[in-house]
Amino acid sequence: MIICRPFHGGYVGIFQLTIVLVGTCMLLAVVRHSDHYLIRSQPPSIYEYTDGKTRGARQNETTITPPPPSDETTYLRYLTREYGLSNEIPWFARRIQPRFDSRGRKSMTEISKVPFMPRGFERIRTDDKQLDLRAESPPVRLSVTQSAKPDAVNASALLFGISTSYDRLTYGNASLMADWARWLTDGEGKSNGASLVLTLHRASGAEIETIGNKLREAGIDAVVLPANSTHDSAARYLDLAGLLARRKDELLGEGHPIKFLALVDDDVFFPSLGKLLARLDRFDARKKAYVGLPSERADWTVENNVTLTYGGGAVLLTPPMADAVSRLPCVNETARGVSSAEGTGTGTGTGQWDERLYSCIAEHTDEKLHILPSLYTPGDDLYGLPRTGYEGGVQPLALHHYRHRRRFDPSRAHLVASLCGEDCFLQRFFFRGDAWILVNGYSVSQYPDGVDVLPAAKSMTLQKQDGSATTTTTTGNAKNGGMAGRVSDRLSFDKQDDDAQKRVNARRVVSWAGAKRTWRLLDSRRGAGGEVWQAYVKRRGSSSSSVPYGDEDDWVPEDTVHTQDGPSDVDSVIVLIWEP
Ligand SMILES: *[C@@H]1O[C@H](CO)[C@@H](O)[C@H](O)[C@H]1NC(C)=O
Ligand SMILES: *[C@@H]1O[C@H](CO)[C@@H](O)[C@H](O)[C@H]1NC(C)=O
Ligand SMILES: *[C@@H]1O[C@H](CO)[C@@H](O)[C@H](O)[C@H]1NC(C)=O
Ligand SMILES: *[C@@H]1O[C@H](CO)[C@@H](O)[C@H](O)[C@H]1NC(C)=O
Ligand SMILES: *[C@@H]1O[C@H](CO)[C@@H](O)[C@H](O)[C@H]1NC(C)=O
Ligand SMILES: *[C@@H]1O[C@H](CO)[C@@H](O)[C@H](O)[C@H]1NC(C)=O
Repeated sequence: MIICRPFHGGYVGIFQLTIVLVGTCMLLAVVRHSDHYLIRSQPPSIYEYTDGKTRGARQNETTITPPPPSDETTYLRYLTREYGLSNEIPWFARRIQPRFDSRGRKSMTEISKVPFMPRGFERIRTDDKQLDLRAESPPVRLSVTQSAKPDAVNASALLFGISTSYDRLTYGNASLMADWARWLTDGEGKSNGASLVLTLHRASGAEIETIGNKLREAGIDAVVLPANSTHDSAARYLDLAGLLARRKDELLGEGHPIKFLALVDDDVFFPSLGKLLARLDRFDARKKAYVGLPSERADWTVENNVTLTYGGGAVLLTPPMADAVSRLPCVNETARGVSSAEGTGTGTGTGQWDERLYSCIAEHTDEKLHILPSLYTPGDDLYGLPRTGYEGGVQPLALHHYRHRRRFDPSRAHLVASLCGEDCFLQRFFFRGDAWILVNGYSVSQYPDGVDVLPAAKSMTLQKQDGSATTTTTTGNAKNGGMAGRVSDRLSFDKQDDDAQKRVNARRVVSWAGAKRTWRLLDSRRGAGGEVWQAYVKRRGSSSSSVPYGDEDDWVPEDTVHTQDGPSDVDSVIVLIWEP
């Protein structure tokens, strides 16, 4: 380090020397500064300026070397640049330490002792050179259960099959593959044991190789093949069923203990793989089983007054079932022959692969579709449970069409599960003192006019008493109406999933009047110390709640009890730092 200090040597020339030295120091300062910006324009590291890096001695009158920016400052500057945030920003940051002492995952975890935001937002300017942001301290401790982290899950019992295209996979910085890495690897770049067979529609040899390499780099154990380009998307999945059955034989031969073959849409996400494997363990993999994982109500349909699902783009088969299915004429390509383009006569409707598979199995076998529900179960309507989106407090086994339906980026949102376990993902925390609710990985909401959290059964009684649904969150539910009629008897539910009364008792419902302000997760990354940084942002312009995300509490225009936050001209940022 260069130390600039006034020269105390002699009498003669001291003035000139001082000038020269001051000049040199200023020049150095400028060089340093631009160096700063050069570093910043590269992919940021939160820890760039800390840990073991010392700075030169401080000087008084000549130059003042700015102190290294805090990690919080560096992160905010990155967010501003990356997402084009406004220069002026209401900003708040808080450290969180999970405490692994909860016996079961609650629908709502209440924090009554400490407020979420003790001092409120700090209004800052991101172009302020002296910016020195610090997270609110001390850290708040949040109760979570001890649950599997991605690096502790052994998914070698699973063989997945996906059919998609090169374009979809490379779109948006290859975000789909980043999503897959959350459930096909340990989150640290190594396979979690699960295998993947991927077929690509209309892909060149070079494209297949590129994707194969990318998957390998990400730690995903995959075989990439061209799809039969003469087949429509549903037929490509039926082909895949046959390919998976054959790949399974190879893997079993190599000693992989494959128990389930899973056909899934490219945008299905498994946030709780440990829990899913435990649920699948209840099936005997030596017998036939046909299992579907519909995620939310949009994965269900009503036909002729009968409620049913085809599996919501996520269908699992045991090895004997997969063998039987691959022999069915509607799946076996050779037997299908000429009739493939039009299906086999049963494949009416939308032409989705899961529907065609269902029709094929229903036509030729007596196998029922076993349902492992996630965010929605048909009985919910009959018992008046609110429609649950990602903010409903339910731990989903599968998410479906998450980018399209919710603009949800699970590769970022799910990072926190590597720190606090899969159960803490989408776990809700209610800060009673100042009326804030955190839905971990999804949103943070403030209820400035107050909020209450009620048992679902009680909130239903309240609704009936005042004759309207508007005092609770169920406005959307009343409007959309419940699923009609009976549930198809080709579906089979676990006793546990079937118990609607139990679900009602366990569920907590958020009830409020007036405004709700929502900050949605925008970015998340891991710091060098293993902590997970989350940025929740409320964008300037129209209020975020006017954008329908399909959440249970989405604002609907005819709603007179809940109000919208007025538009703001600044972006506001809440940073949560989960510490190991
Ligand atoms: C720098 O400034 C501090 C107080 O501002 C003073 O105590 C110290 O003596 C100064 N150092 C030099 C080298 O002038
Ligand atoms: C995963 O489980 C299988 C058996 O179920 C075992 O053979 C394999 O070694 C396990 N992998 C790891 C990394 O523990
Ligand atoms: C693109 O993806 C790579 C690898 O997943 C990541 O390192 C990079 O930050 C991403 N870039 C953007 C702009 O998101
Ligand atoms: C693609 O499917 C058609 C019709 O089912 C079949 O004739 C053809 O052999 C298949 N092509 C390949 C490469 O499997
Ligand atoms: C469905 O049920 C409703 C009422 O239960 C009845 O009015 C309607 O005719 C039924 N529709 C069909 C197609 O069975
Ligand atoms: C598919 O059908 C053909 C003709 O019926 C049959 O020869 C072949 O063994 C079947 N393939 C499978 C995998 O069952």
